[in-house]
This record gives sequence, structure tokens and C-alpha cells, in this order.
Amino acid sequence: MRSHYCGQLNSSLLDREVELCGWVHKRRDHGGIIFIDLRDREGIAQIVFDPDRPEPFAIADSVRNEYVLRITGKIRQRPEGTMNKDLPTGEIEVLAQTIEILNKARTPPFQLDDENVADDTRLRYRYIDLRRPQMLHNMRLRARVARILRNYLDEKGFIEIETPMLTKATPEGARDYLVPSRTHAGSFFALPQSPQLFKQLLMMSGMDRYYQIVRCFRDEDLRADRQPEFTQLDIETSFMDETQITAIMEEMIIKLFKEAIDADLPTPFSRMTYAEAIYRFGNDRPDLRNPLELTEVSDLMKEVEFKVFSGPATMPDGRVAALRVPGGAKLSRKEIDDYTNYVANFGARGLAYIKVNDINAGTEGLQSPVLKFLPESIIKLLLERTTAQTGDLIFFGADKARVVNDALGALRNRLAADMNLLQGQWRPLWIVDFPMFEYNEDEKRWDALHHPFTAPQVNTTAELEADPGQCLSRAYDLVLNGIEMGGGSVRINTPDMQRTALRLLGIDDQAADEKFGFLINALDYGCPPHGGIAFGLDRLVMMMTGSDSIRDVIAFPKTQTASCPLTSAPSPASPKQLRELGIKLAKLPKQE
Ligand code: AMO
Ligand code: AMP
Repeated sequence: MRSHYCGQLNSSLLDREVELCGWVHKRRDHGGIIFIDLRDREGIAQIVFDPDRPEPFAIADSVRNEYVLRITGKIRQRPEGTMNKDLPTGEIEVLAQTIEILNKARTPPFQLDDENVADDTRLRYRYIDLRRPQMLHNMRLRARVARILRNYLDEKGFIEIETPMLTKATPEGARDYLVPSRTHAGSFFALPQSPQLFKQLLMMSGMDRYYQIVRCFRDEDLRADRQPEFTQLDIETSFMDETQITAIMEEMIIKLFKEAIDADLPTPFSRMTYAEAIYRFGNDRPDLRNPLELTEVSDLMKEVEFKVFSGPATMPDGRVAALRVPGGAKLSRKEIDDYTNYVANFGARGLAYIKVNDINAGTEGLQSPVLKFLPESIIKLLLERTTAQTGDLIFFGADKARVVNDALGALRNRLAADMNLLQGQWRPLWIVDFPMFEYNEDEKRWDALHHPFTAPQVNTTAELEADPGQCLSRAYDLVLNGIEMGGGSVRINTPDMQRTALRLLGIDDQAADEKFGFLINALDYGCPPHGGIAFGLDRLVMMMTGSDSIRDVIAFPKTQTASCPLTSAPSPASPKQLRELGIKLAKLPKQE
């Protein structure tokens, strides 16, 4: 039906007859001449209708935005002064000979160049939203990313293998999406949170190097970088340790950014232990473009009269930390109040601060609601340790370490955004030496920091059991500009160690056999040392497009409440379906 894409036309095609198909982007009536900007996935071409040809002119006069047209015409130079240097096709136009309306369109619910369309409306009419050039670009970049990754892994001898979607629960820390079985009434499949168990089994089968671009499902609290179904680049290898795995993955990510968006990531990637990341930045995915750092001051606050500080400073799981903000003395009272409210979201009960108006004027040069509670000698040490300068502000967090880290870690990000502090473009970072476990106060047991199949840095079960809280794991995460891009580990590869790790997580041998017996058995039938990683494909593409949500790089994403406004999924099942499945609803679902 067409000879060219609209966006491919340029002055090398002057005087050529072309046939174009596309959507009416805009129609303008210029005193007797009609211009139609015809759009397809490659771009926009300007079509001119001359009243000399009354029939096409009349049809052109009747079309509206988003009509689908087929046009034939001749390419000519635009008159001097009307060229559009911003458009690739801006030097030429097409003088229309024929026009055919292939389909009409109702007035679209929003204009494609409207930046302020409600998210819900965008998703309800996603097929129109996807007509935006930015969205088209995102989809194509995503396809390119997948192709580059496949090529790279193929070249390195990785085999792409699919694993089941209807399967058993894989514990990655979220709730499962369950699918009822009709043939086994009362039983349920779980959609995979990741292909973790299957990829390990593939190593036991001798596949040696596996990968898969795979959909994963997690019923968890959604955020800008989390969707209930998302895509992983999932990888597993045999006979490689963590140094070798991270090295090959680093090479892959560097090539990916170069080939996909011509970005040069700094090499080698930085490496930091989990403990150092928490200590300096409050969390395990620090954005290294942000120059702000926490300063430990617990030791200085042990003896002070101010209970808000001395309490946490003397508690075993307490922490008092400072966050120096260069130039922060200019923050207003209201801004500081806003930050205080912000950190309250993370459990902080206050946000003490000192403004350094003049570093050389002793306490006279300082301004703070807590100054009166702190001895001068301590204040002096504080200023030295935080390397405070005139014009700075120092924030303080004092509480359980967890609260201080969460609050000041988040405040650090917020300040960098508000004050434009980010430096440099790409700061990849491996986080290593994670603890195996984290104590869960509510449930009075250990939780796995990664998943329960992660190998410890010790060799015997006795060492692991002796002090689980102190034991480090062989896990690694890749963080890019403050977002976790991927995570993986070397795996446990003996039944003994696997059972012990599960026991520490509160899963006794009987429960372990019910849930993961197939994996534990397989470990006994010739299991190679193995390990792997999974990257969030949506997050990688999001970073490359500069979007702030992975929704912008997923064709048909879900809303904040895990629903799809386009298809109205999820939706109630019919009584017949429920009967077949042996399911009786306790309460009818709320009708919208
Ligand atoms: P993990 O749970 O860290 O590891 O997941 C790997 C990566 O997947 C991305 N990701 C998500 N992206 C969008 N929405 C979500 N809800 C979401 N959850 C995770 C992140 C994350 O780094 N089986 C292990 C990997 C392994 O050990 O090999 C796993 O799934 O970018
Ligand atoms: P108060 O004595 O409670 O009025 O607090 C004095 C100052 O300390 C105020 O600026 C509070 O914001 C701050 N503050 C109170 N609790 C904490 C805390 N847990 N961590 C940091 N600052 C706090």
C-alpha cells in the first residue's frame, strides 16, 4: 500500500512519486490550501492539498485528527522560509495527487502532545498513548536492548531455555499470584516470582550456561520501579565463582549501554560492601552521583544530657548519624519543617539540625534547636568530623539504626533532587558481602536478605548455625544511579546446607520437603557449583530512556493498584467457572 514511511522522506527523493499511509497528526487550513501532517511510526510528512484538484481537496477538507489515510503525491522542495529544520522531513513536502480515507477516527480522548493526561486515561487508551513518538521510541529501544542481550549471551555460549509459568511458589519475598487448577480442584499453581528453582535445576542437568528473558509475577506494593508483572533477564552458570560471574555481567552491561544508547559506563564498576553502603549512605542502593554522606556520631553522643541523642547512642541497635548539607544554611524554616515531615514517613521522630552561619565564630556562629543540649566540646568535635563549612547545615537522625538509615538515606536522595546536587551521568556499583539473614522482629525469626538458595561465605553448616546474624552471603547486586538493576549469588549446592539455611528461616525439614523437596533431592544427584543473576529489564530500559517509571517502557502496564484500565482486568469469574474450579467466594468482590 505504500512506497515509503512518512518519516523516511527527504530531499534526496525530490520529484519522486510516493505512496504514504498514516494518521492525521494535524490539519491546517491556510487560506485555500490545506496542509496535513501525516504521521507513521517513523515520523511526520507534510502533505499539501491544492484547490486546483477539487476532489482530493474536498476529501482533505473533511478529515479530522487521527483519521487513517492513504495518500499519493509528488515530493517537492518547501518554499524558502517555510522549511522546518527541526524535522528530518522538514525541507520537503508532498503535493497530494490522491487521498483515500482508510478509516475514520473519533475525536481522541487526548492530544498526543498533551503532557498532562491523567495516568488512568493514558492506560485506558493505551493504544493511543503508544502513538506518541516517545512511547514508540521506548518500545523500539526495549526491543533493541533485548536483541543486544540475546546476541551477547548467544556469543558467550548461553542457551535460552523457557521455564514454566504454571508452577510452584518461588520465594523472592513477595506474595504469589495463584491460579486455581480445574483438574486438581482445591489445588493451585503459583505464577513464578522468578525462575530461580528451574534455572538451578538446569545447571544440575548440565546446561552449563542458561539465560531467559522472562516474565515474573510478584504481588507486592507497587512503586514507580515495580510492576506486578515485569521482565527479567535471568542468567545461571556452572563452575564460575562470584568474581567471574560479576566480571562477565559487567562486560555485558557495558556493551549493552554502548550499543543501545552509545553511553560509556565508567569501568571497572565500583564495588562496595553492604556494611559500608549502609554506614555511609543509609541503604544498599546508594546513588553515587549524590555527594552527600552520613557521618557516624554515635560515639560522641553517648554522654550528652540530650536523651534524644544519648538514648540511641547507647542502645546496641541504635545509631546517631549526621548529614552535612553544603550550602544548606540557606534552607528556610518551612523547608526544614517539610523535610522533618518527610523523614517521619520513615519512622523518624524528629530531625534535629545545626545551621553553620559562621564556622569561625564558635557557638555564636551556629543556629540550632539542640545547641543548648550539647556541650561545647562535643559541638566542636561534631563540626570537625562532619568537615562543616560556613553556609552548611547539618541534619541529625537518632533512633534505632534501621530508622536512622532509612530516614537519612531517603533524605539524602530528596536533598540531592531538591538542590540539584547530582554529579556525573552513570555510576554503576556492585554491592557485595550482604548478610545472609536479617532478623525479623515481628515474627521473631531470620529472613533471607536475598532468597533462601543463596550460598553463605562459610563452608560448614556448623559455622552457619553458630552465628547466623553475622554470616555473610555470596550475593551481589548491581546498582545504577540509586536503582537496583540486578541481583544474584552463588548458590547452595548441598542438601545439608540447603536444609540448614531453610531451618534458620523457620522452615523445618518436613515443610522444606513439601515446598522444595524436588530441589533438595536434585542437589544430591550430581550438582555442580553454580550461580547466576537476574536483571530487571524494565528498569534497564527505563534508565536508558530517562523515564522515571517503568510503566513508560512497558506496552501495557498495570496501575498502582495492580489493575488494567484498558481491559478491566482483574474481573470477576462466572459462577460456572467458579463451580468448575470448586471455588466458593466468601464475599462477592466489590463492584466498581
Ligand atoms: P531479585 O528479586 O533481586 O532476584 O530480582 C532481580 C531484579 O528484578 C527486578 N525486579 C523488578 N522489576 C520490576 N518490578 C518488580 N516488581 C521487580 N522485582 C524485581 C530488579 C531486581 O534487581 N532469582 C533472583 C535472581 C538470582 O538470584 O539469580 C531474583 O529474582 O531489577
Ligand atoms: P524536642 O526536644 O523533642 O523538641 O526535639 C528537639 C529537636 O530534636 C527538634 O529539632 C527535633 O526535630 C529533634 N529531634 C527529636 N527527636 C529526634 C530524633 N529521634 N532524631 C533526630 N532529631 C530529633
